[in-house]
Amino acid sequence: MNIRKIGVIGAGLMGAGIAQVAAQAGYQVILRDLEDKLVEKGFSVIKKNLEKAQSKGKLTKDEVQEVLGRMSTTTQLGDLQDADLIIEAIIEHMPIKKELFTQLDQICKPEAIFATNTSGLSITELATVTKRCQQVIGMHFFNPVPVMKLVEIIRGEETSTEVLEVIRQVTEKMGKESITVNEAPLFAVNRILVPMLNEAMFVLMEGIAEAEDIDKGMCLGANHPIGPLALADLVGLDTLLFVMETLHKETGDSKYRPCPLLRQKVRAGHLGKKTGQGFYKY
Ligand code: CAA
Ligand code: NAD
Repeated sequence: MNIRKIGVIGAGLMGAGIAQVAAQAGYQVILRDLEDKLVEKGFSVIKKNLEKAQSKGKLTKDEVQEVLGRMSTTTQLGDLQDADLIIEAIIEHMPIKKELFTQLDQICKPEAIFATNTSGLSITELATVTKRCQQVIGMHFFNPVPVMKLVEIIRGEETSTEVLEVIRQVTEKMGKESITVNEAPLFAVNRILVPMLNEAMFVLMEGIAEAEDIDKGMCLGANHPIGPLALADLVGLDTLLFVMETLHKETGDSKYRPCPLLRQKVRAGHLGKKTGQGFYKY
């Protein structure tokens, strides 16, 4: 299938980044969120990123205009009806994603592929609300999308080999490397990474070390680019709590219980960098 137009749903941290790399790769992109102010916020992040790249000499003024010219925004799901590929990047909550996929299945053309950027929910379960299970796939980008090289591609129970191949090609065209994994809670990368972030929160909660020292320890002692608590703030603590809850629920293993400190921060509305406060203040 020839992919020309991509509909990105959710203009938050991930959706804006995905829309940017898709437009830079030459695709027509339509970005959708629930309210005007949310799509405008996502679009302004993209514009700022592109202008920064221009000021560094990585893009010319004309190239920035061309990329922006390939993008449009909407709050109306119906505007995505002619998209060849949908990449969903909304809240990490199965019932809300299912509701969206049910609507998309009615709106989009039958051959359109539905990809989800979920951090760890079941692709197979999400696909069941559509009449196109073979065309539903996981396309897991990493944050910040314009910088991180990897896309983890996840095959659901029914995902076809043809669709997998199309998504590999789209990933490559976006300038990303891919790995292909079979469906499992949190897939491969987050299964390893997210419990480590959760463990760092226990180390803080148990008073073993201060936040700054935990992060400094992991940067200098394990060569991580940023420490686990700073990374948790970058990802978003609400998203991380949803992801840990998925791992805990799906495995039934108490070693994956979300750290109470994480829950407390989310209850306080301190969701990390995006709200100006998490384990650190921004
Ligand atoms: N958007 C676009 N570009 C960004 C950016 C953003 N949000 N943040 C940083 N950059 C760019 C900067 O502009 C800079 O570009 P140049 O090289 O062209 O100057 C470059 O990235 C480096 O940035 P900085 O010098 O400001 O800062 P840094 O050296 O600390 O790098 C970082 C920033 C790349 C984010 C680095 O800290 C890092 O790699 N952190 C770890 C990120 C990570 O592990 N991500 C995975 C999260 S888990 C996940 O995504 C999965 C999930 O489901 C939860
Ligand atoms: P976010 O909170 O920054 O953005 C989510 C956006 O989706 C919000 O703007 C919200 O208004 C919008 N939204 C919610 N329901 C919608 C709907 N029905 N239609 C359109 N828009 C809707 O979240 P995020 O960090 O961008 O995460 C999005 C998805 O990407 C989640 O599934 C998350 O697990 C996954 N993910 C996140 C990261 C990360 O580091 N934050 C990394 C990889 C994957």
